Amino acid sequence: MPETSSLIARLREEGLAAIAAARNESDLLDAKGRFFGKKGAVSGILKGVAGLPVEERKAVGERANRVRGELESAFDSRLAEIREKERVAREGRDRLDVTLPGRGPIPGHRHPVSQTMSDIISVFRRLGFSVQGGPDVEKDYYNFEALNFPPEHPARDMQDTFYVESAGGDLVLRTHTSPIQIRTMERMKPPVRIIAPGTVYRSDSDITHSPMFHQVEGLAVDRNITMADLKGLLTEFCRMTFGPGKPLRFRPSYFPFTEPSAEVDIQCVICGGSGCRVCKESGWLEILGAGMVDPSVFGFVGYDAEEYTGFAFGMGVERIAMLRHGISDIRLFFDNDIRFLSQF
Ligand code: DAH
Repeated sequence: MPETSSLIARLREEGLAAIAAARNESDLLDAKGRFFGKKGAVSGILKGVAGLPVEERKAVGERANRVRGELESAFDSRLAEIREKERVAREGRDRLDVTLPGRGPIPGHRHPVSQTMSDIISVFRRLGFSVQGGPDVEKDYYNFEALNFPPEHPARDMQDTFYVESAGGDLVLRTHTSPIQIRTMERMKPPVRIIAPGTVYRSDSDITHSPMFHQVEGLAVDRNITMADLKGLLTEFCRMTFGPGKPLRFRPSYFPFTEPSAEVDIQCVICGGSGCRVCKESGWLEILGAGMVDPSVFGFVGYDAEEYTGFAFGMGVERIAMLRHGISDIRLFFDNDIRFLSQF
């Protein structure tokens, strides 16, 4: 009996020490197994109680039960301690720092070419022009023939054309927005005052040419329209687009669908006319082509050239955007580099 009680006392000491020393749940379960689990030492003593002499049974049983109770409650409180410690550690690790600046989506905005395009459109709307459109894949007839480029005419070489092979050369990606002049006149009787914005395509690529670019076409047909109206309109357009006080000049040129034809320059926006690399030392920058509608074009759409006259013009949108923002390489518009695009 004294032996058994000192054994129980020792198991109590050792069990409590093992529980106190446990660093985590698995240490703790290990201690439980050794001392008071089903196969633990204290449980072993309790199982042996039945084999003891009668006079010892009660005392040994009580003592071992008490020790088992003590060990169980030490186990429970140590388990709670360990779990709490782990929870605190985990929360420290996963804690949300609400003071960090958020990572929001990058706000988008319109492409500089689209911005310039809609600025041009709104200028002409305010001047009384309505907006017309036409197909990107165009008939040879509208892109060339009805604009007075006969088949085999060398003026076609001015435009490096993408032909649609399966259509036997009858379909092209439009090389300019001028075909919309013809489509509009087929649909409407004069007076006509329209602009036609759109995408155009040429087999051409370098720092000032892209195989896909944008134009805005203009057309006005009525009685008594003269070149003075064209000059007045384009002068106003330049004032509204580039600001006041930018001199403009008309140079004689050639287009099959206008007669006379002109190219229009504004004073160089970079050097103010003194001459620089951008204007090739000339002090002037070309911004568009224009002219009085050739009477033979009226012949294609059934307008009476004795009764009506008209003017037309066509401008490159990228070119105007480049001049407004001082951009020297057209390809920057289409590289989709956010560092470039986000500046506008
Ligand atoms: N379509 C011409 C081109 O792309 C530009 C042009 C010139 C349009 C004179 C016109 C015009 O309407 O009158 O080169």
